[in-house]
Amino acid sequence: TEVVIVPNPAAGGALVADAIVALVQRRPDAVLGLATGSSPLPVYEALRPHAALLRDVRGFALDEYVGLPAGHPQSYRAVIEREVIGPLGLDPARVRVPGDDLPATGADHETSLAEAGERYEAAIAAARGVDLQLLGIGATGHIGFNEPGSSFASRTRVKTLTEQTRRDNARFFTAPDEVPLHCITQGLGTILAARHLVLLAFGAAKAEALAAAVEGPVTSSLPGSAIQLHGRVTVVVDDAAASALR
Ligand code: F6R
Repeated sequence: TEVVIVPNPAAGGALVADAIVALVQRRPDAVLGLATGSSPLPVYEALRPHAALLRDVRGFALDEYVGLPAGHPQSYRAVIEREVIGPLGLDPARVRVPGDDLPATGADHETSLAEAGERYEAAIAAARGVDLQLLGIGATGHIGFNEPGSSFASRTRVKTLTEQTRRDNARFFTAPDEVPLHCITQGLGTILAARHLVLLAFGAAKAEALAAAVEGPVTSSLPGSAIQLHGRVTVVVDDAAASALR
């Protein structure tokens, strides 16, 4: 694992954007693993001047809430459209979010939801896997929405969000109760199959989870520690997020 300490999130964003640009220059239809939340925003920001290069890029988001009304502005499909597809000029048809192929409601919805994970895995495989996977880390140590206890072999599936994660994400909603109880997320096994993992963490609130993920025991109690099983990982942190590293 390579740990890069940057002076601020913008510098981290620029560094990762450079890696993505280099990848896309080699492979114009590169497959990016997209994260939502705050951590990857500086990357998307820094990619804007390179939008022309990204026309053929494909994307697979890590996760999505289950149970939000269609088109809800905080659904990750909507967030990815607003922050990634729109500003970077990606082709919306080439960017997938787990569960984005579900029928709107009804009995079909439930059956289809149970199978959505498998369909997502098949779509990633058909794109011949993820070249570069962006990751953030939650205070619980989650990556994607793989909360403590998630199997290292897990694949895209429906999960229950922890109370901690629902509280952490309440800032994006008008009321804490509005945060969904469930999500559909790439599994740790899915994430580990990407060819390059890039984990971003900024701010002191991430220091403990980050240090545990990078240096602690490899354990499903700290899902982020799964990155230690991968041969190519870049961790990009500011001083505050790096402060608990030894
Ligand atoms: C988002 C995701 C989550 C976040 C994590 C950190 O798609 O999978 O694991 O990366 O919750 O969130 P931020 O970056 O908002 O602190």
